[in-house]
Amino acid sequence: MEDLIQKTAEVLTSAKYVVALTGAGISVESGIPPFRGKGGLWEKFDPMEVGHIDSFMKNPARVWKIFMGEMKTILAQAKPNDGHKGLARLEEMGILKTVITQNVDGLHQLAGNTDVIEFHGNFAWLYCMACGKRRRTVDVDLSQIPPRCECGGIFRPDCVFFGEMIPTEALERSQEAASRCDLMLVVGTSAVVQPAAFMPVIARQHGATVIEINPEPTPLTGMTSAFLLQGKAGEIMKKIIARLDETAAAKRRS
Ligand code: APR
Repeated sequence: MEDLIQKTAEVLTSAKYVVALTGAGISVESGIPPFRGKGGLWEKFDPMEVGHIDSFMKNPARVWKIFMGEMKTILAQAKPNDGHKGLARLEEMGILKTVITQNVDGLHQLAGNTDVIEFHGNFAWLYCMACGKRRRTVDVDLSQIPPRCECGGIFRPDCVFFGEMIPTEALERSQEAASRCDLMLVVGTSAVVQPAAFMPVIARQHGATVIEINPEPTPLTGMTSAFLLQGKAGEIMKKIIARLDETAAAKRRS
């Protein structure tokens, strides 16, 4: 593992344009459950039943109730962990240019990353399905389910449900970042949901090195990624940053 941390620090130092793709796993250490795997949301619910736009349209109250149970940690203001902070540090060092995230929790922005592409939208905002008015989730009365707009319409989260298109700008910008980067860090995603999971493939096809950080292998492992740093995002990112700091300090001394 130490060898791979060293190798990652070296690749990060020599790369010209680094992009990160993140998934639910990077927020696990902030207390937000992932979708798949142990303790995941989709262990308790059928994604096609609660995560699909048709279910929401058919019974918004039911889907909202499940969201409310699961969104508690996000609404209780989960904090960025060492994984998010590490990516923010990489941007500060001038290494990381863009984060493409599948997460809707806003933690990358909170950590300090300034160019975050929200591939699946954001839970911080809601919009009315009747009049289109956008409201911050914290400003909406969520004691009434489903939450309603002044016009009587129902609010929905500004996220992408199964069965919906990825917002055009997010998709185009992500494809552009994936084609342009020479290194893509893929952190905490099971890499099974398309088209997000295709971004590392695009990066690889354009000659970039792809490095994964995940406690488990994914369909990218051994195919698209050069190697897997096997472990928790927070712990691994902390080690990478420490190694980069050591290298920079040694350089200053010499
Ligand atoms: N650090 C890093 N990775 C972790 C950690 C951790 N501490 N804990 C778990 N993981 C990994 C898991 O091994 C898994 O590969 O995070 C991944 C989480 O996978 P998913 O739950 O499938 O999350 P994600 O890839 O973001 O899902 C994609 O599916 O239904 C949806 O729309 C939702 O955006 C989501 C999409």
